[in-house]
Amino acid sequence: MKEKADLVIRNIGQLLTMDPASGGAGDDADPLAGLGLILDAAVAVQGEQILFAGKESDLSAPVELTAETAVIDAGGRVVLPGLVDCHTHLVFAGNRAHEFSRRISGAGYEEILAAGGGINATVEATRNATEDSLAALGLQRLDRFLSLGVTTVEVKSGYGLDTPTELKMLMAVKQLDARHVIDLVPTFLGAHVVPLEYRSQREAYVDLVVEEMIPAVAGEKLAEFCDVFCEQGAFSLDETRRILEAGIEHGLRPKLHSEQLSRSGSIDLAVELKAASVDHLENATEADARKLAGSDTVAVLLPGATYFLGKTDFAPGRMLGDAGCALAVSTDFNPGSCMSENLPLMLNMACLYNRLYPREALLGATRWAAQAVGRQDRAGTLTPGKLADVLVLDTHDYRNFVYHFGVNLTHMVLKRGKQVKPVG
Ligand code: NIG
Ligand code: FE
Repeated sequence: MKEKADLVIRNIGQLLTMDPASGGAGDDADPLAGLGLILDAAVAVQGEQILFAGKESDLSAPVELTAETAVIDAGGRVVLPGLVDCHTHLVFAGNRAHEFSRRISGAGYEEILAAGGGINATVEATRNATEDSLAALGLQRLDRFLSLGVTTVEVKSGYGLDTPTELKMLMAVKQLDARHVIDLVPTFLGAHVVPLEYRSQREAYVDLVVEEMIPAVAGEKLAEFCDVFCEQGAFSLDETRRILEAGIEHGLRPKLHSEQLSRSGSIDLAVELKAASVDHLENATEADARKLAGSDTVAVLLPGATYFLGKTDFAPGRMLGDAGCALAVSTDFNPGSCMSENLPLMLNMACLYNRLYPREALLGATRWAAQAVGRQDRAGTLTPGKLADVLVLDTHDYRNFVYHFGVNLTHMVLKRGKQVKPVG
């Protein structure tokens, strides 16, 4: 029985399914291994899902084109899954351009944070904003993500640091998920830093996160993941364990800001607690890499944050990749350490400074990023049954996507089978 297609993209020069089982299989020495590269391909869509992704010459066997089927000619271009950004702080109010200027003049990120600025400044602005104004700002940012080919975005709270504002941020995420075509994945980050009013009683703040915020967030089903900034000046390893275990008890899967500015040894904890991902990793060791490689926890590289903090200690992506870790790449979009929605630009940085191979970077913004946010059943690969989230690039060679940097190569985006006009 043939299935009827609502939409077909034909004349695809290079289709990257990101599924190693389809197309260009190969061993590790093969630069195309894992990308599922198919030349002269077509993609068929039924409703919100992929019906077929393969050689155009094989399309007509399983797929019926009717008079109603919309046909898009890709003109020999490159097609890949819509990108997944698995680590963002999308919802916030205020502006930290002044802090950027101070950093250029020599002030350090940690110094500004310790003096009550940095994250604390964004917390103050976010506490003073309404849910609707946060959502309005979020919409503009999501339009920028979409224009760059991003179709799934993880969003963290963490600029409230009191129960009402943490809930307000997550309500804004819920509102944005309903209003914007991009699918959002909400994460609770009440343990971002200890807020100024709790500085002399940090244990009381951890109590608040564990006893009040986590039950409230889980009770309202406002988040899927619980994240902690495990860092000097933020939360210790013991505090992190307590918070993540409380999250697990309430059905929130752990994620972790880990090994960014200083060494904490938090990767063992993340693997023990079956975290979905450990993110940043500038200070990760070979022992950490071996631990991660033997787990389902994804290592998320955020080269834009290292870059934007003016540092050069990029996370050891090559070492992590050689150890066999699943590697994702994300923007870390936030007002302090990476004010950019440009995920493709991060892929270029991941190649040059985390030393990822181009294929690893591409898998890192699709297949592994989807796993890092628990969406591997529907996003990150183009295979039958997955969501028809499709990115058509304005190039005929997929390598240009990591090579031609700082520009937008998006030609067209489909989200859940619908052509969405790239904005911006
Ligand atoms: O991922 N590391 C903690 N949080 C963010 C920075 C947030 C901010 O500066 O506003 C990060 O880098
Ligand atoms: Fe972050």
